[in-house]
Amino acid sequence: MRELALHILDVLENAVEAGATRITLTIEEDSSCDRFTFTVRDNGRGMPPELAARVLDPFVTTRQTRHVGLGLPLLAAAAERAGGGVQVRSEPGRGTEVSATFRLRHWDRAPLGDLPGTLLALILGKEGVHLTYLHRVDGREFRLDTAELRQALGEVPLTHPSVRRWLQEYLQEGIAGLERPVE
Ligand SMILES: Nc1ncnc2c1ncn2[C@@H]1O[C@H](COP(=O)(O)OP(=O)(O)OP(=O)(O)O)[C@@H](O)[C@H]1O
Ligand SMILES: [Mg+2]
Repeated sequence: MRELALHILDVLENAVEAGATRITLTIEEDSSCDRFTFTVRDNGRGMPPELAARVLDPFVTTRQTRHVGLGLPLLAAAAERAGGGVQVRSEPGRGTEVSATFRLRHWDRAPLGDLPGTLLALILGKEGVHLTYLHRVDGREFRLDTAELRQALGEVPLTHPSVRRWLQEYLQEGIAGLERPVE
């Protein structure tokens, strides 16, 4: 079973490949509704309606290097196995929104996996992309906005060793803190 963090990374990478400069990742976990949803919104090139309609079917790709695209179909299969599904909304020239829902307590829902590591790799690897990340678990909330962070840092790059270390701890502790409720 693939961890959800890897599916999230796939969708984020699609946004980067579509030329997005701003990406918003929202994760909502709601145990009273037994629901786990993640949504990725980007301001990339978008998709014409005929592509957006087929993009959850296996083997649809605009890649030139190979002829299969599996990121979204694998995500759709994983979501459907766990009692949910995937929605794609896209506007050519404006951007795309991909939203995946899972039943939180479904036996076949994959674990979240290493989300801090996955996000850190994306943030440090794509300095030109601003990521807003919002994660809610039963009313608790964690938020990171790399555009705000860059502004606060001025000339210091996010890849500076001490910034990288801080960012890694901030993500790890922030995400871990969501999972343990304060009684
Ligand atoms: N956010 C997006 N913006 C614009 N086009 C997108 C976006 N996400 C997906 N697409 C289009 O849908 C196609 C299929 O995406 P999918 O992730 O399933 O496969 P892929 O990215 O082509 O290959 P893989 O994910 O297997 O490396 C992409 O090739 C691209 O044309
Ligand atoms: Mg992909």
